[in-house]
Amino acid sequence: NMTATLIDGKKVSKTLQEEIAAEVAAHVAAGGKKPHLAAILVGEDGASRTYVNAKVKACEQVGFDSTLVKLDAAISEQELLQVVADINENPAIDGLIVQLPLPRHIDVAKVTDKIKPEKDVDGFTPANVGRMTLGWPAYVAATPFGIVELLKRYEVETSGKHCVVIGRSHIVGSPMSILMARNAYPGNCTVTLTHSRTQGLADICRTADILIVALGKAEFVTADMVKPGAVVIDVGIHRIEDASRKSGFRLLGDVKFDEVAEKAAAITPVPGGVGPMTIASLLYNTLLAAKGAVY
Ligand code: GUN
Repeated sequence: NMTATLIDGKKVSKTLQEEIAAEVAAHVAAGGKKPHLAAILVGEDGASRTYVNAKVKACEQVGFDSTLVKLDAAISEQELLQVVADINENPAIDGLIVQLPLPRHIDVAKVTDKIKPEKDVDGFTPANVGRMTLGWPAYVAATPFGIVELLKRYEVETSGKHCVVIGRSHIVGSPMSILMARNAYPGNCTVTLTHSRTQGLADICRTADILIVALGKAEFVTADMVKPGAVVIDVGIHRIEDASRKSGFRLLGDVKFDEVAEKAAAITPVPGGVGPMTIASLLYNTLLAAKGAVY
């Protein structure tokens, strides 16, 4: 009895990747060089390995070159900074990402700040966060960029609406709140950015026309927290052990999907919602970098 529109990130990401592949093919046919993404992976974190491998595979699918630099978990901060510096100066490479999280002995801020903003296709450097905030041409982080693209392609009305964001991370919640408040489409929302210290969260959520959930707690948002007719964007991804599945696990979001889908006007599923969009966004930024379209 689900009435909500399913926001199909898998389908949209496929379309976006086809658009990118077509543009690359035309560029190469005209004598241009393939866009080239470098990814640095430090250590053996299982999820990070999966994500980086998916990014490299996606590069192949759209006709990009890619370089995966795998480094030992015990690498020193200085050595990692030198690897970043070398890629910064390598003219063959257009975009560089350092997969997070990094081992605890390495200062993420120092490493991020070392990445040349012109190659920062994750949009994590102060230069790109600042440019995004000002509404200047910038590399926008993959998850917020992907959500913006979903809202556009599903023609979600945003002007004058109340957008509630749960979670204030640098990667998702914080940039998302800025993008939704901007004088642009999608945007022009009245934005409330909520977090772990927010009082009366459920009441605030019930006033959201657009609810963006990125706090990292499985099935945190329940139907009683959602206004009828709201648009719900679920950024969470949690691997839950499930012996009845062939894979041994199932994936849950930050939203209790089945009950919220009965109440919302539109909702992103997990998997197949926001997740697939993040890789397409990274490819898009890498294409922009290769074209020199941002800087
Ligand atoms: N870890 C979680 N999300 C991301 C991302 O978008 N980029 C990188 N580099 N690491 C991440």
